[in-house]
Amino acid sequence: MSADRWSPDSWRNSPVQQLPDYPDQAALQEVEKTLAGYPPLVFAGEARKLKKSLAKVAAGDAFLLQGGDCAESFAEHSADNIRDFFRVFLQMAVVTTFAAASPVVKVGRIAGQFAKPRSAPMEKLGGVELPSYRGDIVNGADFTPEARIPDPRRQIEAYRQSAATLNLLRAFATGGYANLENAHRWMLGFVKDSPLSGRYQELADRITESLGFMRAIGLDPEHIQQLRETDFFTSHEALLLGFEQAMTRVDSTTGDYYDTSGHMLWIGDRTRQADHAHVEFCRGVKNPIGMKCGPSLKPDDLLRLIDMLNPSNEAGRLTLICRFGADKVGEFLPPLIRAVKREGKTVVWSCDPMHGNTINVAEGYKTRPFERIMAEIRNFFAVHQLEGTYAGGVHLEMTGKNVTECLGGAREISELDLHDRYHTHCDPRLNAEQSIEVAFLVAELLKTSRAGKPARVLQAAE
Ligand code: PEP
Ligand code: CO
Repeated sequence: MSADRWSPDSWRNSPVQQLPDYPDQAALQEVEKTLAGYPPLVFAGEARKLKKSLAKVAAGDAFLLQGGDCAESFAEHSADNIRDFFRVFLQMAVVTTFAAASPVVKVGRIAGQFAKPRSAPMEKLGGVELPSYRGDIVNGADFTPEARIPDPRRQIEAYRQSAATLNLLRAFATGGYANLENAHRWMLGFVKDSPLSGRYQELADRITESLGFMRAIGLDPEHIQQLRETDFFTSHEALLLGFEQAMTRVDSTTGDYYDTSGHMLWIGDRTRQADHAHVEFCRGVKNPIGMKCGPSLKPDDLLRLIDMLNPSNEAGRLTLICRFGADKVGEFLPPLIRAVKREGKTVVWSCDPMHGNTINVAEGYKTRPFERIMAEIRNFFAVHQLEGTYAGGVHLEMTGKNVTECLGGAREISELDLHDRYHTHCDPRLNAEQSIEVAFLVAELLKTSRAGKPARVLQAAE
């Protein structure tokens, strides 16, 4: 597609990957028409606010914390799950803000993270072959022929769930729950007796002390919005393009197009071909855009993609979400960083330590060793320090629940423990405790890189 002729449906003229084949096209069109008439889930002004915050990250003045489920599910939509996720997220943000003295930009993988790219179109189980599960917005996870038929009406349900989730998140963020005075109360029951809880309680004590000091000198924290409320943004992979197109609206104040299904959208590692539909769609909407960068991405291709997605080199527009694997960061990241630096491009560099560290273990469980996740984050920071660039964020698959999906961590989850609470609908997530442990690591790395301590990329065996 030529750079000047973009429209919300111009992606339909490009080759496309990872979209479902809907057997009932008339029903699909009906659903897309209905969605196009629904109210936006987010506002253009909010997406612009996030872009401004991400511009601060690009400049090295803030840190991006992005995380949530690999795939949200219809069955697990509950106030409890949303609250538990939100409070772990707040705890992580507090750890990073307070321990590393860095503002944190909070972006959930939530309220729209329903569509999943798959490495294989078909799934085989006990001699039976069925189309792969593609996320609740497309088909059902049950291994039956009926469940696996793509059903467009699921898009309406995904919209409804996203709206309800967002409504609760907005209430939590601005209605008192996120008040820093509650930092002690965010501690989840099952994290209380963990080795980490002491470290967190200590931090919460210091916050309480600081607030007490403010009060003593005549500042009432209740009257300071930054202490009482927080900005929380949403994001998901812009995979199901028909849905994204239906949610795209012209912003009346600027005349620009925004995809109002979430504040930030990202392009997955499997769908970032420069001449394909996902890049075509994303280049035309003005939301902050993320792009996953895996080992197959060459520096020249990256530069071409940056030119397409961010031709005016606007700070905060583009976040590169790197997901190489703990032992590959040292090899693949430096050439990308050098190319971006050489061409003077402004991006946010973020680390997804999840998707390059997935392994299969006994009983067919897909899992991720916690120490590899931590190693990828460490190596990501080390590479940036050696290149003189800023490690600006992390992108995590995580939940507020006490699941047993990733191996290791403070509670040393073993292969034998996996079956206990393996609840994910797609990839293995960090549980609450492991997520907070990551936050402490990030805080430490931010502090040491600021202090200019020497860095070294470690190999897997070290
Ligand atoms: C994901 O974020 O769930 C995902 C599929 O990632 P990637 O595109 O990096 O493989
Ligand atoms: Co995933």
